[in-house]
Amino acid sequence: MNDVDINEFIKKSPKAELHLHIEGTLEPEQMFALGKRNNIQIPFKNINEVKKAYNFNNLESFLKIYYEGSKVLIKEKDFFELTWAYALKCKEDNIVHAEIFFDPQTHTSRGISFDIVINGIYKALKKAENELGLSFKIIMCFLRHLNEDDCFKILDQAIAHKDKIFGVGLDSSEIGNPPKKFQNLFKNATENDFVTVAHAGEEGPPEYIWEALNLLNVKRIDHGVQCLKDEKLVAKLSNDQIPLTVCPLSNIKLRIFDKLNEHNLKKMLDKKLMVTINSDDPAYFGGYLNQNLIETQAALNLSFEDIKTLLINSFKSSFLNEEMKKEWITKI
Ligand code: HPA
Ligand code: ZN
Repeated sequence: MNDVDINEFIKKSPKAELHLHIEGTLEPEQMFALGKRNNIQIPFKNINEVKKAYNFNNLESFLKIYYEGSKVLIKEKDFFELTWAYALKCKEDNIVHAEIFFDPQTHTSRGISFDIVINGIYKALKKAENELGLSFKIIMCFLRHLNEDDCFKILDQAIAHKDKIFGVGLDSSEIGNPPKKFQNLFKNATENDFVTVAHAGEEGPPEYIWEALNLLNVKRIDHGVQCLKDEKLVAKLSNDQIPLTVCPLSNIKLRIFDKLNEHNLKKMLDKKLMVTINSDDPAYFGGYLNQNLIETQAALNLSFEDIKTLLINSFKSSFLNEEMKKEWITKI
């Protein structure tokens, strides 16, 4: 099969997205419109200036701009519109199931109530479920640069919305904020029936992936690309088929790898790891899910079989029930 046909296959196949920060879908145009509507100053004169600022050296330099951009989100309607815009992208990319992160502490620290954030996101996803046939799970991420006490307070708020929030995760500045810092928090979250995941091994060492598995009881590792530095870890991830939600365009923008053709995803596939492709923060990293798949296929010369495996893995790695997983996989 040639690359043109593989691209058609990518576009047409049903797929799941498992690593997507809803705040990372805020397009510059929408940032300007919301800034104006809510009377919030943003540190850019025009959309071109915003796009120029999206030139990152590492995770930290991205996070600074990403948290700045989030300040235009004030009302429930803003969170609703943000999420609805992503649901329409799902339709475009043939994403039939999405597991979406949100970062409440980014908003509650600015005086926005937890209820406003979760209700806006949830209502948009329910509308997408009804009108577009999109199934979804919501995963609340703790900001790991904050202390565990702050995170316990936000967990209490999440418990009040347990009917809407499926799981908890861990994001923000990785280096210096190891998973072990949140061992008690994740134990408590598990006792409250939240499924757990964590960003680990994006910039941080393989040790952080071990900690996420052993101390936070995670069912999935977000990113995990640093795992290849540790053979024992690769054996464990491969034996247990622990899903890794890899985000190739994000990894290039944040300089985890210099170029897409130097990305280690093909090596991960060859080691029989349970890898999936995702878009992370598509408004900041230059592409939604299909773009990630298409560019990665071309750069790494992935075969039709590799692509098929990645799409099947997206469902296998999801938190859908076994019946739904099977149903989608037979349609690929
Ligand atoms: N890593 C850590 N924190 C994040 C990311 C990421 O890729 N995206 C949004 N918050
Ligand atoms: Zn992420």
